[in-house]
Amino acid sequence: MHNWQADFPFHQHHPQLVYLDSAATCQQPQVVLDAMQDYVIHQHANAHRGAHGRARAATQAYEDARTRVAAFIGADASNLAFTASTTAALNQLTTAAIDWQAGDEIVISASEHHANILPWQRLAERLALTLRVIPVSSGTGQLIEPEQYLGPRTRVLAITMASNVTGVVNDLASLCKAARAKGIRTFIDAAQAAAHVPINVAELGCDALAFSAHKVYGPTGIAALYMRPELWQTMPPQNLGGGIVETVTFTSSELISSIQKFEAGTPNVSAAVGFSAALDWLQQTQQAGAGRYLRNLQQKLIAALQQRPQLELLPSDPNGTPIVSFYSQAFHCHDLALLLAEQDIAVRAGHHCAQPLLQHWQIPGVVRLSLGLTVTEQQLTQTLVALDKAMALLAETGPLTESDEA
Ligand SMILES: Cc1ncc(COP(=O)(O)O)c(C=O)c1O
Repeated sequence: MHNWQADFPFHQHHPQLVYLDSAATCQQPQVVLDAMQDYVIHQHANAHRGAHGRARAATQAYEDARTRVAAFIGADASNLAFTASTTAALNQLTTAAIDWQAGDEIVISASEHHANILPWQRLAERLALTLRVIPVSSGTGQLIEPEQYLGPRTRVLAITMASNVTGVVNDLASLCKAARAKGIRTFIDAAQAAAHVPINVAELGCDALAFSAHKVYGPTGIAALYMRPELWQTMPPQNLGGGIVETVTFTSSELISSIQKFEAGTPNVSAAVGFSAALDWLQQTQQAGAGRYLRNLQQKLIAALQQRPQLELLPSDPNGTPIVSFYSQAFHCHDLALLLAEQDIAVRAGHHCAQPLLQHWQIPGVVRLSLGLTVTEQQLTQTLVALDKAMALLAETGPLTESDEA
């Protein structure tokens, strides 16, 4: 059995901590930190801006990272832009060159993270478009008859591959195929899926897909945005500035014609290097059985929580991402999270940037336990003991949080 936790310096510094928040952000293994430090010490300069040796080395490191990240999702580097986050990537996609007419539709699902709702909401307001929402079953967490929502006025399907609340994975290959057959653009938010679900953009047949480095054990501040050439070649960049121009005068400018036109300003080269190293590490763990390891932990956790009648479990997916979420009619999610935190168990509680999903299911905030390769089986036992202690204390003393606080 692998001891992946030993790969994380964070855990050597916090040996008592049970980190159950990898779906929010992952800790980073030593190899990722080493790769970034090595780059900074030996290669650092501004990429794509100079002819001196270090500038060329930085450019090479950045472009090697692009190639590596693109390969992870079966894409060509020429179709992959780095952005600051999945959020930035999804905002960028709203500038797709689409001949919008008032009343045209954008289809999302009820499981979207706010990052895949707000940008479309604003576009819809600005252009008098309609946002249609594919419902999601509260029993299974699956999309309900999604193809029915792809109508004659639908121009964009913007959808998550995995829910950040339940970890349920959507079957997007068939949905993308149905959408493309109707001329609908398909944009995938793979932020939660990337660490756990094999992704091949050619097999998915999507027009665009985004995911963040910090959810695949890499650094914060960088994400990947894959786009089909027909999409990005006609799409204006949202950010304008240095590094993306052929010529500029005071009255006009001509942009470069490559994917780098979406990367105005100094790129985050050390993060790109860390992103690439994280994917190398992640793929090695996957070959060594990381998926099985996490699924096994998830199933054990689900079975243990099902024994506790005060808790209502949200649906989960045996082939999904390793998230277990629950709520309680008896205890406020923030009270549970707080009392767990006091016992060194780091979980997340609340609406998880998916308020509409919780409204859709009419449930209050939930406690989310998200598993990563830093978690051991013994730590799950510790978590259950801590949870029982928290519930016993709250039963005795009453709530800490007002019941209408989200
Ligand atoms: C499904 C999903 N989409 C988008 C995001 C936003 O990612 P980022 O914060 O890296 O922009 C998250 C973050 O939690 C997420 O879970």
